[in-house]
Amino acid sequence: MSEGNGFVLWFTGLSGAGKSTLTEAIAPRLRELGLRVEVLDGDEVRQHLSAGLGFSRADRDTNIRRIGYVANLLARNGVAVITAAISPYRETRDAVRRQVERHGVAFIEAYVAATLEECEARDVKGLYAEARAGRRPGFTGIDDPYEPPLHPELVLPTGSEAAGTSAARVLAYLELRGFIPSARSVGARS
Ligand code: ADX
Repeated sequence: MSEGNGFVLWFTGLSGAGKSTLTEAIAPRLRELGLRVEVLDGDEVRQHLSAGLGFSRADRDTNIRRIGYVANLLARNGVAVITAAISPYRETRDAVRRQVERHGVAFIEAYVAATLEECEARDVKGLYAEARAGRRPGFTGIDDPYEPPLHPELVLPTGSEAAGTSAARVLAYLELRGFIPSARSVGARS
């Protein structure tokens, strides 16, 4: 199989759209299939690699470029990298894509497309309520922009479909691209 065949699976979408949930569903599945997997999740990265950064445009860009840099290092050494940060700015995502692709590594942009209404209705962390109340200025989708990808490899309507369905869709895509063995051949072996 594709040992040494790293890639970057880059989830982008609003806070609460389901990026981390999908990552948590997909990463173990890839490990089961024998891939080396690393996850770079915005919330976690901000505690370590990006500690001290806020949510200004400049800080978000720094955060995303750092995630892109590490993702690139790992993926070009054969790791399947999954990133889960809002990554709201198209230009910055595209810059990361160019950097990754320059090294011959696949960049798979997966737009986690739950709408603001859907994310706000769920408001898992209570942050949308805080943003609406003016206690969290510069919140993505409320008073800070989110620029959806124009040509993502995948669009996952997580507001209207179950996370399991979206995760299966991602796995099917990875299979199609040859990054994981086909479900049929896995079944045949077990
Ligand atoms: S990014 O814009 O730099 O990509 P990142 O994904 O790392 O953002 O962090 C987003 C998380 O930080 C959100 O899911 C939320 O929990 C928290 N957060 C705190 N303040 C903000 C804000 N102003 N805008 C968006 N998310 C925020």
